This record gives sequence, C-alpha cells and structure tokens, in this order.
Amino acid sequence: MSTADWSYLREKSAERLAPSMAKDHPNLPVVKEEGCYYYGVDGVKYLDFTSGIAVTNVGHRHPKVVQAIKEAADHLTHGPIGVIQYESILKLADELADILPGDLDCFFFANSGTEAIEGALKLAKFVTKRPYVVSFTGCFHGRTQGSLGVSTSKSKYRKFLQPNGLTYQVPYFNPSDPRFLDEEGEVVESSACALLEEEFRNLFKYQVSPEEVAAVILEPVLGEGGYIIPPASWLAKVREICNRHGILLIFDEVQTGFGRTGEWFAAQTFGVTPDIMAIAKGIASGLPLSATVANHKLMQQWPLGSHGTTFGGNPIACSAALATLDVLKEENLLENAKEVGAYARERLNLLKEKYEMIGSIRSVGLMIGIEIIEPHTKKSDGAAVLRILDLALQEGVLFYLCGNEGEVIRMIPPLSVTKEQIDDGLDMLQRALVKYKEETHQPASL
Ligand SMILES: Cc1ncc(COP(=O)(O)O)c(C=O)c1O
Repeated sequence: MSTADWSYLREKSAERLAPSMAKDHPNLPVVKEEGCYYYGVDGVKYLDFTSGIAVTNVGHRHPKVVQAIKEAADHLTHGPIGVIQYESILKLADELADILPGDLDCFFFANSGTEAIEGALKLAKFVTKRPYVVSFTGCFHGRTQGSLGVSTSKSKYRKFLQPNGLTYQVPYFNPSDPRFLDEEGEVVESSACALLEEEFRNLFKYQVSPEEVAAVILEPVLGEGGYIIPPASWLAKVREICNRHGILLIFDEVQTGFGRTGEWFAAQTFGVTPDIMAIAKGIASGLPLSATVANHKLMQQWPLGSHGTTFGGNPIACSAALATLDVLKEENLLENAKEVGAYARERLNLLKEKYEMIGSIRSVGLMIGIEIIEPHTKKSDGAAVLRILDLALQEGVLFYLCGNEGEVIRMIPPLSVTKEQIDDGLDMLQRALVKYKEETHQPASL
C-alpha cells in the first residue's frame, strides 16, 4: 500500500474507528510483525516490548503457529463445540490440564479475557448460590458489565457504566503502605497479611456477610493497575480467608499466564492455587481464545444451558494454542523469561541509579513495570510516561503503559527475547530518558 493510501486511511480512522479504543498509546502504523519486531509503514523496524499487550509470548507470527493456523483453516474454520466435536479443542483441554496448577482440569472456552472472567463469576455464583463477589481495588478484569463490576483500575472505565449488581472491594497490596514497612522501608509480610485480615474482617462485619459471598477475585500480579507484585504470603492469606468461609477464589491470569511470570501461571510462581482461573491473552499467540478453568467436580455443577457460546474454542484458535504450547516447551521459554527477566531487572536497576525520574522497578519474569516520578516532588508522572513512550518509539522501541495515572512504563517483550535485544531496547529507552531530561530542562544531576 502506498504512503498516500496509508495517510488517507489514517485520516479516515478518526471518523471510522471509535475513539474509545483507536487512539491508545503509541498507536504505531505497521505492515508486518515477526519475532520481537514490528515493521512500520515508515519502513522502520521496531523492537516490540509490548507483545501486543502480553499476547505474543512466543514472538510475533512464530512459523509453527502460522503453519498450525494454515493447516487448521484447510480443514475446519468453525465449531461450535456442542454441535460438533473436533480434535483441537479436546487435545487443547488435555494439554492445558497438564500445565495448570493443582486439579484445575476442566474448561469452558471463550474468545476474550473478559468472557473468561464472566464465565468465572457466573460459575462461582451458580455453584455457591451466593449473590456477591469481592474484588481488589486497582485490579482490572475486563470491560463487559460483569467484569467491569469487579474492575477498579480506573474510574473512567466505569463512568456512566457503573455496574447494576453490587460488588465489594478491599484494597490490593500496596508496597508503599507505611503501615507495614519497617525502618529500612522494607515490607514486613506478616504485618501486610494482618492488615489484609483486618480489611476482610471489617468488610464482613459492616458490609456483607461472608456466607453471601460467592467468590473473591484478583489478579495475582496487578497488571493494568501498575504492575504491583504482592508477596506469596499475602496471596496465601487471601486463599486462607476464602477457605475459612467457603468462598471460591478466582485468579485472573489473563495477563500473567503462559510463562509471563517465569512459570506457566502466576499461581505456580507464588504457590497458591485458586478454585477458578481465567486465562486468555498468551494462549493462542493473537487468535481470539480464552477459558474459564475449574476442577472437574466444580465444573460438573454447571449444567447444560447455564452458560454457552457460539464462537468460543474456535478450531483455528485451538490449533494456534496447541502450537503455542509446543513452542513454549520446545524453546524453553519459561526458563528464558526467568533468566532474561532477571537480566533486564539488573540493567533497569542500573538505570534507576542514574535517573531520578525512575521511581521503582517492579518485575517478575518478563512482566516488568518501570515507575516514572517527578524527580523533585517524587509524585507519579503519567504525562512524562506518554512523552517518554513517544521518544522511545522515535528511537525504535515500543513500550506500553499502566498504572492508575499511566505512571508506569509497561515492558512485556515476547518471552523469546534475547539479552542482546534487551540491551538494544534499554539503550533506546535510556536515550529517550536523556532527551526527555533535555526537553524538560532537568539538571544533569537528576
Ligand atoms: C488481567 C486482565 N483481565 C482481563 C482482561 C480483559 O481481557 P480482554 O481485553 O481480552 O477482554 C485484561 C486485558 O487487558 C487483563 O489484563
């Protein structure tokens, strides 16, 4: 396509595409993707540290995945499961059961993260016959009405769309909460857990009885809310509270799944197993697929007709997922996520020592958040992040953002990324930081 055609389409996009979505940052026009790179309309090759928002964990257009998609399309493009049966969905369920923690072995396949969450909430309510759900402030679970009802990462997502059904919130782990920091500023885990107990005690005392609560839902690592990593003991405490009251625990592993944290799922990274899990994003390398997962016994209490789908578990998407799982195993990408993730963290800590605008580095595996602050006030600086993202893009690397005010640079490269590519990307980020400092007249000492 000619540059003129592209310019015309870009201009038209303002009329044709809903602004609610089409202008997210950095919004780079591309013609091709491959491995860890996007190829721009401008003929420039961009290093991708977004993975299409944590989706292309095995790299863009991995040849094995592309091959599987082509072969599947030659045979079967549409299910729907229930009306017909096909090998890819049955095989995928079997293979997923092997890599999921505990006895999570039974699946309801859908198309998107939010649908997997809807399924999880519906399953929990149906099985327990309890009406309410408790979520954690700052978590994001999707944009359909049920998911939105438990999402509190940004109030703008709920503006004029407040959920009809009542849900309850308790605060997510906050690493800078002075109530559980010691004199060196380190988190005292036992105090953080005690505070969590107290939050739940108050919730159950003043707002909702625990026997009315079907489920507690949370992201095991806060994603959209700013890449906050709670201690394993804090997650274990959530599990313990649920057990005590017969409440089902739902983990939203839409973003953390498929090797992102260095294990198959964050549940394994932290050693805490939920009753229900929602998985999506990295499952099929970009094809629309997700699943609500529970153990067989729980899932059997969800009878025919209580939930359903036309497109969920599409045969081409399931074939892409099977190939994705093969690549994650064959190329040892979980190990790579751990090793290269640790390497990236080391390099970022060095950058943090040099640039006062870097507040904190939060990382587990290749799920990395770089908090940006205003060096004098030490306050979160979302405006700076937007500009730094633009400057980094000019250098040739794509990052995304997260945090309530967009104050965190989100770095989620494909799990196949190499140390050399991390070096390239972080060199480009460093140049962007230098330019930003020059633009904002920050003294060299900052
Ligand atoms: C943790 C989490 N849950 C749910 C969702 C919603 O997924 P989707 O956009 O596929 O509906 C997202 C999307 O970013 C997410 O990060």
